[in-house]
Amino acid sequence: MNTPKKYFWSKFNFIFKFLLEKTPKISFLRKLNLLWKFYYISRLVDCPHSNIEMLIFVRSVFFLLPSIEGVLVEAGAYKGGSTAKLSLVAKITKRKLIVFDSFKGLPDNKEVQSYTNEINTHQNFKKNFFIFPKGKYKGSLGEVKKNVSKYGSIDVCTFKKGWFKNTLPRFNDKIAAMFLDVDLASSTRVCLKYLYPLLQPNGILMSHDGHLTLATKVYRDKKFWQNKVRAPKPPISDSIKGKIIFIVKPSKI
Ligand SMILES: C[S@@+](CC[C@H](N)C(=O)[O-])C[C@H]1O[C@@H](n2cnc3c(N)ncnc32)[C@H](O)[C@@H]1O
Repeated sequence: MNTPKKYFWSKFNFIFKFLLEKTPKISFLRKLNLLWKFYYISRLVDCPHSNIEMLIFVRSVFFLLPSIEGVLVEAGAYKGGSTAKLSLVAKITKRKLIVFDSFKGLPDNKEVQSYTNEINTHQNFKKNFFIFPKGKYKGSLGEVKKNVSKYGSIDVCTFKKGWFKNTLPRFNDKIAAMFLDVDLASSTRVCLKYLYPLLQPNGILMSHDGHLTLATKVYRDKKFWQNKVRAPKPPISDSIKGKIIFIVKPSKI
């Protein structure tokens, strides 16, 4: 497990590396500007993610091969803080960002949640059991659009309002990378079932729900992948602990 001191240095190292490495499609100064905007957005919009978590996804979007066609997808927008950040990246990489959310918060559910052991000690999650109440993380479409207009690039965004079970089956675009932050196992199942088949080979799936036992179980459930997603369970990166589940879609399945 990481100690707080180790965690601080690994964060610091990651940001430092991100800024100094040669990144396709973006210069050092533009990266600095992007980073500054991320911190600015986090101060002004309620964001239940850390900038380092966003950067892990964003960095891999910059490194996507140009031959990987498709849009960026976000499932779970809350107040639009992550949406605004992702829209800036979509603009730079000349991709569209499709945003799925009820814009009413989480659906009614009976899922008894707990935190995974993989969570780092510094994050201070307690080992309690709890249920996410209906409407938790509500951000209306108006609020999200306002925040993305103010702090991001709304021109690259398309918003798909409604429960995932209704909106996702109608979606058919190729996906280059997707960011899932949906909290519930039931929502995770619907997202994987309908979105993973659209993810292009070598495309990226990052979930921000790696700290939640039930959602994590879905990602690790071989039978679910075989029977519902109709794809073999892909390798899941264990190198980044905490909230992150990171998958690169294998090129041959
Ligand atoms: C934790 S919040 C997202 C936080 C956001 N990514 C951020 O970092 O600012 C989870 C979001 O998932 C949405 N959500 C979860 N399950 C859903 C479902 N079945 N259908 C539609 N939206 C859902 C909720 O409305 C909520 O906005």
